[in-house]
Amino acid sequence: MIKSIGGKKLDTAVFISGNGSNLKNLVKFSLSKKSPINIKFVLSNNKKAKGLNFSKKYKIESKIFLFSNRSKSENQILKHLKSRKIKLICLAGFMKILSKKFIKRFQGKILNIHPALLPKYKGLNTHERVILNNEKYSGCTVHIVNSKLDSGKIILQERVKINKKDTVQSLRKKILKKEHILYPKAIKKLISSL
Ligand code: GAR
Repeated sequence: MIKSIGGKKLDTAVFISGNGSNLKNLVKFSLSKKSPINIKFVLSNNKKAKGLNFSKKYKIESKIFLFSNRSKSENQILKHLKSRKIKLICLAGFMKILSKKFIKRFQGKILNIHPALLPKYKGLNTHERVILNNEKYSGCTVHIVNSKLDSGKIILQERVKINKKDTVQSLRKKILKKEHILYPKAIKKLISSL
């Protein structure tokens, strides 16, 4: 169960793999007085992730775990999270799949943002598939991570209309904009519902 005790912000870790626009957005959100989270730690599985520049700028502890041996990496990560009393993990463009064992240790406390309207378009290359299928709408979803890929309980979704002129790039941009609104809202919703 996730609980913020006595109004204290929940110590949170953000896991990234790339650009980190969601990380940047979540850090800004966490700095506002009304935010229920405090971002204490950033993990990347990619040395070159641009998002790492942002955590440096805001002096947030960050660490790279390459996941070349998932089980070994996860054991080290779990120790690290425990010693920092992390209570919530936000996956933000994190492209590795966490093991069942890891998810169990943080049951109900790992959130993910996915760039599609789940349960449709789970997995990778969502925008490409959505455009190929001539969908009229796509969007983004914040959900709790369970042991099945992109299948945990949905916290919030936001729909985006697709125009005939939209390309994979324009759709990605439109959806990212919505993601930046949705993720903080979903975190607030999850924490206030407990
Ligand atoms: C976001 O669109 C996020 O929804 C997606 O990666 C992008 C990361 O952007 N996540 C996934 O596809 C997870 N399977 P960012 O690095 O700029 O936050």
